[in-house]
Amino acid sequence: MKKASILTYGCQMNKHDSEIIAGLLNEIGITSYNNLIENPDIIILNTCAVRQNAENRIIGRIGELKQYKEKNPDLIIGICGCVAQEYGDSLLNRINHLDFVIGPADIHNFANIITEIISKKTRVSAVKSDCRILTSKTPRKRESSTQAWVSIISGCNNYCSYCIVPYVRGKEISRNFNDIIKEIEKLLSDGYKEITLLGQNVNSYGNDLSDGSTFPKLLKKIVSIKGDYWLRFVTSHPKDLSDELIDIIAESNNICRHLHLPAQSGSTKILELMNRRYSRQHYISLIGKLKKYIDGISLTTDIIAGFPGETEADFMETFSLLEYVKFSSAFIFKYSPRKNTESANYKNSIPQKLIEERHKILLDLQIKISEQFNQFFSNKTVKVLTEDVSPKNHEYLTGRTEHNKIVIFKGNKELIGKFCKVKINSWKSWTLFGELISDQ
Ligand code: SAH
Ligand code: SF4
Ligand code: F3S
Repeated sequence: MKKASILTYGCQMNKHDSEIIAGLLNEIGITSYNNLIENPDIIILNTCAVRQNAENRIIGRIGELKQYKEKNPDLIIGICGCVAQEYGDSLLNRINHLDFVIGPADIHNFANIITEIISKKTRVSAVKSDCRILTSKTPRKRESSTQAWVSIISGCNNYCSYCIVPYVRGKEISRNFNDIIKEIEKLLSDGYKEITLLGQNVNSYGNDLSDGSTFPKLLKKIVSIKGDYWLRFVTSHPKDLSDELIDIIAESNNICRHLHLPAQSGSTKILELMNRRYSRQHYISLIGKLKKYIDGISLTTDIIAGFPGETEADFMETFSLLEYVKFSSAFIFKYSPRKNTESANYKNSIPQKLIEERHKILLDLQIKISEQFNQFFSNKTVKVLTEDVSPKNHEYLTGRTEHNKIVIFKGNKELIGKFCKVKINSWKSWTLFGELISDQ
């Protein structure tokens, strides 16, 4: 029985792709692990190229793996995901100890490629396909038996000026409507309690289909499935968030009252340079509607600090946007110029030191805001989906509220996978602590 280590970097889409890779390998008798095990037969790096430092870490890791190959010449080492797509064949030319390079659109072929490498002792590059053939029948070895990712659309057509994703994940391809429903029905009947729909821009779902499928229609169909489960989706693009969608979230008991709505900047000038196709005003009006119609909604966002041309005034507009919206949490990134992207050629880049200063100011502000947000939970009893034992102390469990807040509480392992009622007593910036009141 061969063993594979799959090391995953990047977003939920990559994590889900690793589950598919593990499922495909399982079918040919290869067991996989999501850490670097002792004496693996195969090491797979599923990579992210979104920022330069993500890529540097991966290139460094590939270098470290050379020693494993020296100890075991039969070891197969390969790279897939977005860095694989970015550099393609050239990785095989540059790195002698690599056996394969597989792009995100080619992962359906993973098992065949590995079989070929094992039987013919060849090196393989598969980064050319522009179509992703994944269906409900594709095997998946899911990490959790409680929460499941369901990919509904791959690729991205938006071409935000800073972003490498459209170049490495290709154009948008929506999955068949009924096939998605089939996958979700099966997951729910298998006892999954949380479904997260995945796409770089879920709101574009259906634009490339000719059968009239849209994201709101898909959501409506999913929530018509009866049961005690939570439905989430990432990521929504502010330019495409419709009133219809807001109504569906407001009316459904299953859709979590949490929305990740990346703002990227609070300055309309910078948003234009980013090719985001919405203004500060539009973003603020969306936030107004979301707060008005969806009681207790928790909002999270992504922000890029130090985009080329960001003046002190532009930066302060982002600062004031964070103050105004009061996101429950936010991912704040330092701008990183990426290969082939439009903004990599922009002239007026911001000195690294200033990018770091602005990043820190926004991060410090957000920590304060998140702590304020957490006060809302003080002494309240909330519904929590229990996910696992706490990694720091095994007498404790970890779960999340529908607002996507992590909750730590004392309890028995049997509660994993169940909805519980937990009373919140204290909190840190990103975590709530409480006591178990009941399971449901
Ligand atoms: N499709 C999603 C997420 C894309 S990548 C969306 O549209 O929001 C996740 C986040 O990485 C982005 O939201 C953005 O904030 C950040 N990001 C992408 N490219 C970046 C770059 N070149 N430099 C810094 N952050 C970047
Ligand atoms: Fe990148 Fe923009 Fe597409 Fe998101 S919407 S993946 S930020 S190009
Ligand atoms: Fe990274 Fe690719 Fe996701 S670049 S963020 S792993 S789509």
